Amino acid sequence: MDSILNVILQDRKLAFLDLLASHYSKGTIDLAGIEEEANSFVAAATDAVAIAISWTIYELGKHEKLQQRVLEEVDTIQGEEISSEDLQKLTYLEMVLKESLRLHSPAQLTPRYVEKDLQVGEHLLPEGAECLVMMDMVHKNPTIYPDPLEFDPERFSLEKSARGHPQA
Ligand code: HEM
Repeated sequence: MDSILNVILQDRKLAFLDLLASHYSKGTIDLAGIEEEANSFVAAATDAVAIAISWTIYELGKHEKLQQRVLEEVDTIQGEEISSEDLQKLTYLEMVLKESLRLHSPAQLTPRYVEKDLQVGEHLLPEGAECLVMMDMVHKNPTIYPDPLEFDPERFSLEKSARGHPQA
């Protein structure tokens, strides 16, 4: 069984479960490890998406005009099945989702280990330090996002996004 699996898995980019199965067959992960990885994957995926959708619905509930605009855009998609090409046409919905993620980030900070001395502006982060990147503070920094507590999807309009950092 293991050898068949190895042949199937050779030379291709592996999906999550295939990757875990491949490591299991090589002995580089045990069943407890697989369980741990699967749990964090499911938790990372479901929590973040549930929080993001809940806040987006909350903001659309508070801003009826924006909600109407989203509705009109969604109504332009015809048919029962929605394709990924259809989703790409929902540009205003994308702006709304980005603004919602900015104002209510499901993940508000993320830890980083400093592998070698790193100068950030006037601060030196020494090798070996552990630091937290505070996304929520960046998202609410008025020099980056003026009037940061306002829900304004226009911040992520195509022309404004073109002026910003591609990963913002
Ligand atoms: C609105 C949706 C989501 C947001 C805002 C979000 C945000 C994040 C952030 C900020 C991190 C940490 C990244 C880092 O430290 O470099 C992360 C990690 C991760 N996310 Fe998401 N995520 C979302 C959806 C998903 C989905 C749908 C999946 C899987 C299908 C997923 C799987 C993961 C995994 C596996 C990790 C790594 C966890 C670890 O290293 O322990 N996320 N996510």
